[in-house]
Amino acid sequence: MDDRPTSVIILGSTGSIGRQALDVIAEHPQRFDVVGLSAGANAELLCRQAQAFEVERVAVADADAARSVREAFSGRVAVLDGESAAATLASAGADVVLNGIVGSRGLRPTLAALDAGSRLALANKESLIVGGELVKAAAGDPGRIVPVDSEHSALAQCLRAGRPHEVARLILTASGGPFRGRTRDELGAVTVADALDHPTWSMGAVITVNSATLANKGLEVIEAHLLFDVPYDRIQVVVHPQSIVHGMVEFVDGATVAELSPPDMRLPIQVALGWPDRLPTPPSRMDWDRPVALEFEPLDRETFPMVDLATAAGRRGGTTPGVFNAANEEAVAAFLQGRVRFPGIGDVVAAVLEEHTAVEDPDLDAVLGAETWARGRAHHLIRALEDRTATCT
Ligand SMILES: NC(=O)c1ccc[n+]([C@@H]2O[C@H](COP(=O)([O-])OP(=O)(O)OC[C@H]3O[C@@H](n4cnc5c(N)ncnc54)[C@H](OP(=O)(O)O)[C@@H]3O)[C@@H](O)[C@H]2O)c1
Repeated sequence: MDDRPTSVIILGSTGSIGRQALDVIAEHPQRFDVVGLSAGANAELLCRQAQAFEVERVAVADADAARSVREAFSGRVAVLDGESAAATLASAGADVVLNGIVGSRGLRPTLAALDAGSRLALANKESLIVGGELVKAAAGDPGRIVPVDSEHSALAQCLRAGRPHEVARLILTASGGPFRGRTRDELGAVTVADALDHPTWSMGAVITVNSATLANKGLEVIEAHLLFDVPYDRIQVVVHPQSIVHGMVEFVDGATVAELSPPDMRLPIQVALGWPDRLPTPPSRMDWDRPVALEFEPLDRETFPMVDLATAAGRRGGTTPGVFNAANEEAVAAFLQGRVRFPGIGDVVAAVLEEHTAVEDPDLDAVLGAETWARGRAHHLIRALEDRTATCT
């Protein structure tokens, strides 16, 4: 092994994934050297991080926040600003770029990191889903993208147990979210606070709502297909409320290999940063001196239609997965603002998908054009839902 520290750029360093990535790096100061950080608007935390890790280059999307960071460092740290700043930072290249930005705005930074020849530790699944074949082409060798999502990290680890032609099925586990066991009718009355109260994981707001609707699991099915080249009919979702088994691979002889660890994102982050090596310090570990019950149950597809909607979007391919994601992002934002009810999120996404005509083999402009279209249609449908609710009350 090379003794030189691995240079790392963390995009979205002020978010849930970014902060945990820096926690992991702080545990391995000899192993990693942070050479760039990026944030959206949280200038204060970004400044503290840049100081603590002696970073010389940062990117800030928000103009006011960028000004504050510049003032704080008075020339000692180079500050890139604007929506393209994260991509510019990523294009500088590092051994590893960890993309922890939320949403499809992570696509350009993902492409920039791959074009610069970096290994991409990918938390921002949206960029793979929206960019699809474009991202795969930029990666060339599929091993250049190492997943940070706990389920895909688990699958990547389990896949080491066999050869590609020996894989029968990928099994993604889902906690079931806070509304597991409820009926569709019961979901009409749930609040934003209910949806943000995830039983096993602590995450950013958007991904927490996506976990409650199971849209996140739908996105993960597409992500698994794109990352591991396994057809959709051989990717299965199973509900596992304890979130200890993160993913399983069934091989052709019926043997199933699973990855188990406490629900702690620092492990998949650490696996991705160190890949293909394992780092010796466990962020947390199973306690086998206590009883551990593991339950598995089938997915309730009627109450949680998002997995099937996403899978259908993935099968249609081209611009459709990006349209699913964009419509979902808009519907989740409207839900968080109290503008649509919880089941309305799925209704908006289904309606936008219904209207979409997929573009095959899209280039970046077509991908971004389809996204803009989907956001516009979602806005229109959200307004119509609001008007209907106002008329009924
Ligand atoms: N959290 C988890 O446990 C988890 C697990 C698996 C996968 N993921 C995936 O990881 C990604 C990040 O999730 P998260 O939970 O960490 O989200 P989060 O806590 O909301 O953090 C998002 C990060 O993106 C930055 N950001 C926001 N707007 C931006 C912009 N316009 N340009 C550049 N950066 C911007 C934020 O900066 P500010 O703080 O300055 O706004 C923050 O650093 C998502 O794709 C999610 O699906 C998360």
